[in-house]
Amino acid sequence: MTLAGIKAQPMATADMDRRYNLHPFTNLGLMEKSERTVIVGAKGNYVFGEDGRKFLDGLGGMWCVNIGHGREEMAEAIADQIRTLDYYSPFDDLTTPAMATLAAALARHTPGSLNRVLFTTGGSTAADSAIRIAHHYFEQLGQKSRRHIISRDRAYHGSTYLTASLSDRSYCDGWLREAGFIHHLRAPGLYRRPDGMSEAEFADSLIEEFEAKISELGAENIAAFIAEPIQGSGGVIVPPEGYLKRMRETCRKYGILYISDEVVTAFGRLGHIFASEAEFGIVPDIITSAKGLTSGYIPLGAAIISDEIYEVLRGAHSYFNTGFTYSGHAVACTAALKSLEIIEREKLCDHVRAIGPRFEGALAGLRDLPLVGDVRGRRLMMCVEYVADKARKELFTDETRIGKRIWRHCQKRGLLVRPLAHLNVLSPPLTLNEGEIDFIAEVLRAAIIDTADELVREGVRVA
Ligand SMILES: Cc1ncc(COP(=O)(O)O)c(C=O)c1O
Repeated sequence: MTLAGIKAQPMATADMDRRYNLHPFTNLGLMEKSERTVIVGAKGNYVFGEDGRKFLDGLGGMWCVNIGHGREEMAEAIADQIRTLDYYSPFDDLTTPAMATLAAALARHTPGSLNRVLFTTGGSTAADSAIRIAHHYFEQLGQKSRRHIISRDRAYHGSTYLTASLSDRSYCDGWLREAGFIHHLRAPGLYRRPDGMSEAEFADSLIEEFEAKISELGAENIAAFIAEPIQGSGGVIVPPEGYLKRMRETCRKYGILYISDEVVTAFGRLGHIFASEAEFGIVPDIITSAKGLTSGYIPLGAAIISDEIYEVLRGAHSYFNTGFTYSGHAVACTAALKSLEIIEREKLCDHVRAIGPRFEGALAGLRDLPLVGDVRGRRLMMCVEYVADKARKELFTDETRIGKRIWRHCQKRGLLVRPLAHLNVLSPPLTLNEGEIDFIAEVLRAAIIDTADELVREGVRVA
């Protein structure tokens, strides 16, 4: 059949998807053949498949649907905003009530003096902007050599050229990486720390590594350190006690800006609007965020800078040369304001702090199962790591596709989790209740047991 012929036929969603759509971060060859789960609707903590199946949304869309799906008042607010003002330019001295009100609302919630907001189109453009702002800041201060940026293994800061380069080095395998000024430290993951090392010793070694990197590059050449408070896509890596505070202090000691990437950790996921100070005791120089900012109803991101940085930029000899057509899009900002209102009115941060320990405990209960090497995370940001050999923490081969196998077994039982190589990630809506926590743990347990049986039948060694 010719291409024109295919286009003329009415096609099923899955077929059109296979034929025309490029999915983010996939094995394209495998995707040509694989099944599709077509999601056609969503309400509350559940999503609905084309075939009538109902799934508990264990991943909150993609770490983002914090207030749950299909909120009528979100639809109303978004529709009203479009009726009143669909879009207008944020450039020059033009503004909108939605954009200005959201900037003020965010400044009320940020720690320290982080009071100036640059709206972006998502998390990648927020992190990208933060780096550009850091460079511009030092340029204006006359410290032109401060160019280098320190990131970490297993980081995920986005998928622009720059933010993919800041992310774990594997994100650029087979692609080009900006290698001139970006450096990576080790990830602060406790599960795979060297044998026999205590948590405190591990933290010490990470700080020493940072100090060593600073002396190698020269503090006068380093602009910023960027870090997610808990690394998300890298495998929900909760750092050792005190690590973030000490990294923050080290940055301050050497005049290095600290950028806290709160794309996932903000807006209630850890029980706070922003987690940097409330959960980890640090006041960064810049916070980036997105996702839960609008609960995923509409794309929006933000890079929020301190008054100290702003004071330098406002006197700058050059223009604040950054921003986007859709910076502060009125519809997105209205969605964010309504989502924030719901989080506050329904006390969802309190709810997350209350049910968080039960979620952590229910998942920790899976540790006795075969395949389960580690269960980690905090509150509604959790993951299960699977291993072929528990004692040696040995991974399955990539071909085993362990995370995806368990994900399929979960789907059969009405639960969506996120398959991420040898992990399953969980970041459900903040409105999760106790019954749903138990359901997630039960389904995961059954899915892991079924998968282990399946592997044994295939002759794969499970220890
Ligand atoms: C910590 C972090 N930063 C940045 C991003 C990129 O955000 P976006 O996909 O909205 O560009 C993500 C996305 O998962 C993220 O988890």
